[in-house]
Amino acid sequence: HRTLRVALLGAGSVGSQVARLLLESGADLAERSGASLELAGILVRDVDAPRDVELPRELLTTDAESLIVGADIVIELLGGIEPARTHILAALTSGADVVTGNKALLATHGVEIFDTADQVGASVSYEAAVAGAIPIIRPLRDSLAGDRIVRIFGIVNGSTNYILDRMDREGLSAEDAQRLATELGYLEADPTLDLEGYDAAQKAAILASLAFHTRVSIDDVHREGIEGITADMIDGARRAGFVIKLLAVCERLEGAAADGEDEAISVRVYPALVDREHPLASVHGGNNAVFVEAEAAGPLMFYGAGAGGVQTASAVLGDVVSAARRHIAGGVGVGESARQSLPTAPIGRI
Ligand code: HSE
Repeated sequence: HRTLRVALLGAGSVGSQVARLLLESGADLAERSGASLELAGILVRDVDAPRDVELPRELLTTDAESLIVGADIVIELLGGIEPARTHILAALTSGADVVTGNKALLATHGVEIFDTADQVGASVSYEAAVAGAIPIIRPLRDSLAGDRIVRIFGIVNGSTNYILDRMDREGLSAEDAQRLATELGYLEADPTLDLEGYDAAQKAAILASLAFHTRVSIDDVHREGIEGITADMIDGARRAGFVIKLLAVCERLEGAAADGEDEAISVRVYPALVDREHPLASVHGGNNAVFVEAEAAGPLMFYGAGAGGVQTASAVLGDVVSAARRHIAGGVGVGESARQSLPTAPIGRI
């Protein structure tokens, strides 16, 4: 077996689980990817910080540059724009394949990241960036590449779903439900990203870009969060036969474009009244559900854990195995995925 050096940037709730699984399931992963995956180091802010998962101290480092140089695969799980952006660009230009869960970065600087990957023939995979453990990026990018997607809608934020669900089913206050979501590691480090709908909007931008072969950034997404939703509103909705869910909706607006030739698309995130009979009403806890409607395939439903460290780590490791396979295949197909993610049409023209 060839040995590939893996650099892990970040040891938060997802990163620490990725490290644990890489160390514990090394033999299985090697079997599946055709290469031994050596965890070369883990970038952290503070080597002495307390962690839920115990990690080998000798792997922890605060020196990003030395870790990234010489890595074959760089896993970025720092979140946020900087220094994640700089590290990913450095990794790509040094020839590494990148695996990231960073929806904020892809939704704002996706064009720069994918352009760079394309130029150097490296790959950027990001299954973990949308809907946690649920495979949704690859189905949209690959499995449905021959179809025409007309609409995607669903619940793509686990923490707000958890909060709304506990409020609906147990009558908890927003504050208490939020505290429980924090304890489960569902919320972003900055919880306003979840509560005000930014996280869902970032994911919607990524899904819409893939589905409609266009470039949608966070600024193109209409966004409303759940910060104004009270226990009383949820109670009122229940009495009327509804449940309040934070939805992301991405759709083609047929015939809506001004010149009559092109179509426009609409991408929006908002708390919606969902009929209790609708399958989305049964999405409980930190789960996500994404409905995809494609012309030939018809309606498809993707459901599962949308947040949580170990669940999301599954999506990261899947990307790592794929990147390892591509790497040892000599880069065959590398870059293709990046180009697929970077369509040429601007938003509103598909
Ligand atoms: N904060 C995110 C959520 C984590 O609640 O869905 C998973 O992306």
